[in-house]
Amino acid sequence: MTKATIRYTDYFPQVIQRMRQDGLLLVTADGAGKPNVMTIGWGAIGSIWGRPTFIVLVRPSRHTFGRLEETGDFTVNVPPRELAAAVNLCGTVSGRDHDKFKEAGLTLMPSRQVRPPIIAECVVHYECRTLHRNDVVPEALVQAVLDDAYPAGDFHRMYFGEIVAAYADQDAANRLREPDGAFPIAGH
Ligand SMILES: Cc1cc2nc3c(=O)[nH]c(=O)nc-3n(C[C@H](O)[C@H](O)[C@H](O)COP(=O)(O)O)c2cc1C
Repeated sequence: MTKATIRYTDYFPQVIQRMRQDGLLLVTADGAGKPNVMTIGWGAIGSIWGRPTFIVLVRPSRHTFGRLEETGDFTVNVPPRELAAAVNLCGTVSGRDHDKFKEAGLTLMPSRQVRPPIIAECVVHYECRTLHRNDVVPEALVQAVLDDAYPAGDFHRMYFGEIVAAYADQDAANRLREPDGAFPIAGH
């Protein structure tokens, strides 16, 4: 499948919907280029400092965290619904003691601009370079979110990645279509 360049705002509703449903796949690499993948359920696409930006939130306990600290580059890959089991595996075991690409049956493909690879079976891809990182500040967070998201601490670090390349499979719109015309973004 050819992957063609897109505007980073293309597929926005579908990408947010997939993130809220099963999660997206965040791929990082260590200094030697060894890749790892983890599932993310929280993130944002926007324009910051006049640059297209993908913000991801990663807890310090994740293996991914050390890799982001080491290199700062990452790719975000949007899985079609058929990959739900693989996405779940990538979100429940750690790259410290698992080769998740192998166990989940995911194929790596070289990225165009950054070192961490993309995942061939995904349909939309963003290549990102960290511009800024910032920790969630407990004192500045409302109690309801503290209670929901941080009963054990492990406060996320937010990585603001400039999107340096964005591309998609040519049938991405079909592959990301919701069944039975469901509204693309559930919830509020
Ligand atoms: C649906 C889903 C969404 C998740 N979202 C995040 C997230 O946004 N940030 C985060 O730090 N962990 C998130 N996780 C947990 C990590 O994916 C999980 O701890 C993973 O095993 C970490 O892998 P690693 O140790 O190889 O980095 C999520 C897990 C699932 C199943």
